[in-house]
Amino acid sequence: MDAIDVIRAKRDGGELTPEQIDWAVAAYTRGEIAEEQMASLAMAILLNGMTRAEVSRWTQAMIDSGDRMDWSGLDRPTTDKHSTGGVGDKITLPLAPAVAACGAAVPQLSGRGLGHTGGTLDKLESIPGWRASLSTEEMLGVLREAGAVVCAAGSGLAPADRRLYALRDVTGTVESIPLIASSIMSKKIAEGTGALVLDVKVGSGAFMKTPDTARELAETMVGIGNDHGVRTVALLTAMDRPLGNAVGNAVEVAESVEVLAGGGPPDVVELTVALGREMLAAAGMAGAKDPADALRDGTAMDVWRRMIRAQGGDPLAPLPVARESHEVFAPSSGVLKRLDAFGVGVAAWRLGAGRARKEDPVSAGAGIICHAKPGDKVTKGRPLLSLYADDVSRIPRALEALEGAVEVGESAAADLEPLILQRVG
Ligand code: URA
Repeated sequence: MDAIDVIRAKRDGGELTPEQIDWAVAAYTRGEIAEEQMASLAMAILLNGMTRAEVSRWTQAMIDSGDRMDWSGLDRPTTDKHSTGGVGDKITLPLAPAVAACGAAVPQLSGRGLGHTGGTLDKLESIPGWRASLSTEEMLGVLREAGAVVCAAGSGLAPADRRLYALRDVTGTVESIPLIASSIMSKKIAEGTGALVLDVKVGSGAFMKTPDTARELAETMVGIGNDHGVRTVALLTAMDRPLGNAVGNAVEVAESVEVLAGGGPPDVVELTVALGREMLAAAGMAGAKDPADALRDGTAMDVWRRMIRAQGGDPLAPLPVARESHEVFAPSSGVLKRLDAFGVGVAAWRLGAGRARKEDPVSAGAGIICHAKPGDKVTKGRPLLSLYADDVSRIPRALEALEGAVEVGESAAADLEPLILQRVG
């Protein structure tokens, strides 16, 4: 096989053969295809797309580049959720324990945040003592003890994706739907879950800005999952405004604990319950206990505490608090028509909740609390947002990101989108 032939075939709009795909991904992982050749192939894929057969085979080749985990020794079905990332998206924190409390096992390998969307591991690391890195044996131990585990993916999982993602990042090829779908699904399938629910976010704070691109991504990922024997469905959900009231790390853990205690913001509860029901149905457990009941009766909280303790954390320890705060007041009285997710996400990032480079630390206490959400009444001069940072010098740039992100009108916007836009699968 020759890299140039594979590049030319895709450049000219052809369909790659299974042999070409297997060879290209394996040879790239071994270092036998040069970075510039893979960059050229990625650009040809971005411009000409891939058929369902190609994208499924590409995903398989990326899975085959590393280890595939196996949870068949557990006495309950496995099911997981993946979100394409949003602002205030702390759903994994209440969801994994709620679904485990209903009888499924949730083995979730999660990531750290980069840019304006937060990462689940960064949020959990604000809990004193909690550890993200676990061996496979430790993961199994936490799953047996608590029913759910959320931890970092080891370097053996889809190593081809790690290399290719870094290359796409610097060659303008991140935005290819087949490459995004195969990147996400190779890691989720290698994680070994039997069922998977995808939360594909749509809107200013999301990777996918329009419903059409989000639907195409969802359909591609659902196709890949089902082709690989993982029962997969997707929900398209609104990310034009932040999810819940808290955006950051410790503040999102605190909000998740409220949800686990049977309270919390209605949108976080709605999405947790909807995704939980889909996860159980995809695992063939449609008649199981309802996740809404698990949140109400304290069993989800019991799982949360067991899970945090099993990973070295103290679920009852006080969470870190930022040293500095700043209030943003409502500019006029009326109804909040818009609270732009992207603006709030960038502001939280600049306050220190997120990182610009992979190796940067994040601040556990930094973030934003939204005191109103679109559709709520607001009063001129009353606090609308509370900003938190460890370093006061971060506040002016966060305020710049919020310029134009808030709109107050006379009446509720009639076009406020529902949270759950569509189901795919
Ligand atoms: N997340 C991933 O894991 N891969 C992509 O390509 C994009 C987002």
